[in-house]
Amino acid sequence: MTLTLAPGLKIVAATHNPGKAKELAALLEGRFEIVTAGSLNLPEPDETESTFVGNALLKARHAAELSGLIAIADDSGLSVTALDGAPGIFSARWAGPTKDFTLAMKKVEERIEETGSKDRSAWFTSALAVCWPDGGPAVVVEGRVDGTLVFPPRGDKGFGYDPIFVPEGRDLTFGEMEQAAKEAISHRTRAFEKLKAALF
Ligand code: IMP
Repeated sequence: MTLTLAPGLKIVAATHNPGKAKELAALLEGRFEIVTAGSLNLPEPDETESTFVGNALLKARHAAELSGLIAIADDSGLSVTALDGAPGIFSARWAGPTKDFTLAMKKVEERIEETGSKDRSAWFTSALAVCWPDGGPAVVVEGRVDGTLVFPPRGDKGFGYDPIFVPEGRDLTFGEMEQAAKEAISHRTRAFEKLKAALF
């Protein structure tokens, strides 16, 4: 089996979030026909693995097996050095069922203060996995961007933990940066660069 993906191929994006599917489609440069797991009514698997890579693989494998299509999935999050890597794979869950990231960012600030650590370093990770329906070898890559956390949060341009994250060598938070400026250096873009090198 070749691991090259032909242009125009139909690929299922293992997400029920149309925003994420759009982002995945944009990063794949309109090269493939993207359908979402949500639009195919595929059930969402529980994210039971303990790493970003493990959860991305689990989601892609699940969608490939159920749809019979090649599947792509991502798993991402913020890791804080002073919190031994938390929230990490639990980044979305720290925002609770209402997806309240103001609350999640406050929780990060309070937890760091509780440790007494002065270390404000953190990093975003994005793992991307591509799986084939016949269970053939999967491709999985990881991208990372390092930075420093600032409180209170600044900016309303991004999403999630963007307003507290200043990437290395910059002054603005991801929440204050234009989308294109963030995309130029983001963990997700870096993961995609690796995926493209492996597959296209
Ligand atoms: P996932 O859907 O399980 O991958 O959840 C990832 C979570 O990590 C998101 O809900 C965000 O809270 C956080 N996250 C991942 N990437 C970013 C980013 O680029 N900016 C801000 N937060 C992010």
